[in-house]
Amino acid sequence: AQPRLVDRFGRVATDLRVSLTDRCNLRCTYCMPAEGLDWMPGDQGLTDDEVVRLIGVATGHLGVKEVRFTGGEPLVRRGLVSIVARTREVAPDAELSITTNALGLARMAVALAEAGLDRVNVSLDSVRRETFADITRRDRLDDVVAGLEAAADAGLGPIKINAVLLRGVNDDQAAELLGWSVERGYELRFIEQMPLDAQHGWSRDNMVTADETLAALSAAFELTPAEEPRGSAPAELFHVDGGPAKVGIIASVTRPFCGDCDRVRLTADGQVRDCLFARSESDLRTPLRAGASDDDLAARWVTAMAGKRAGHGIDDLGFLQPDRPMSAIGG
Ligand code: GTP
Ligand code: 5AD
Ligand code: SF4
Repeated sequence: AQPRLVDRFGRVATDLRVSLTDRCNLRCTYCMPAEGLDWMPGDQGLTDDEVVRLIGVATGHLGVKEVRFTGGEPLVRRGLVSIVARTREVAPDAELSITTNALGLARMAVALAEAGLDRVNVSLDSVRRETFADITRRDRLDDVVAGLEAAADAGLGPIKINAVLLRGVNDDQAAELLGWSVERGYELRFIEQMPLDAQHGWSRDNMVTADETLAALSAAFELTPAEEPRGSAPAELFHVDGGPAKVGIIASVTRPFCGDCDRVRLTADGQVRDCLFARSESDLRTPLRAGASDDDLAARWVTAMAGKRAGHGIDDLGFLQPDRPMSAIGG
């Protein structure tokens, strides 16, 4: 039988998340400092050929069924449209998606859809211009809204929006954001902030919890748990006001879903990460550049899953934040 990416706990990774760059054109305060980070040197990043080759190993030899492109900001990767098109060629049946801040998406949505992209998730923490600019340190709300509209027009739906609530910044806007999203047919999800920021400024006390978010939403909307099975999806879904509209809660910290994890990650420099919170990585770039065969790369990838831990361990005594920040792992 074909090898699969199984860990010690029997979880099978079928969802590959590929970070295409650690760079970003926003500077969200909860993610990175105003001056940005020390970006990865060019020669360390996988080339387009190398990225597509490794995706082909995962989908062709290891049972991966979904491929999500992330960053940093994946739209700033020059070869993105071509990477998507070539991924579609090597993996005709895989579901292909992207998680993006949507800057520039208005110009690229049609090309991405034509290249074979199925859908997009867009990060948006506020629909008020000033709050958006305070959080992202860039006054670009209009570009995001235009990107969302273009993505919907190009058929890149169902479109999901990811929002992080920050205490004292946008935590009073949860219902407003949901009303806005429902009106436009986007599925909004609220994400609990995780200790993955480059500045190591996360604190559990400051984090807006899923329960707080649900309480705020319930004051304005009637939420009823969705019937459909959740599977390994991070989001718990609720119907809004009995309608077809849904809202999701991603309670990574207070209600972890690690037991059902089906994810594996590939960084822009060709390292396999078995978890967002992995403490070590497995290098595929070196063997790839040394001429390894698909079978050899697949075998290394299988081995890379052996160290995957049961959960993120945020609540464990002695928890250590991983060295690689969220912006270089890709959410
Ligand atoms: P779909 O529901 O299939 O559209 O995708 P998704 O929600 O898995 O993907 P997306 O990239 O939009 O992720 C949304 C958020 O979920 C991320 O920003 C993370 O905060 C969180 N998330 C994604 N994967 C993981 C994971 O493996 N572990 C944890 N704890 N959180 C995750
Ligand atoms: N915790 C949770 N989500 C985060 N994101 C960025 N940093 C964090 C964090 N520390 C979100 C972004 C985006 C997605 C890629 O990850 O808001 O929606
Ligand atoms: Fe960029 Fe995403 Fe980090 Fe914001 S959260 S700075 S959009 S990588």
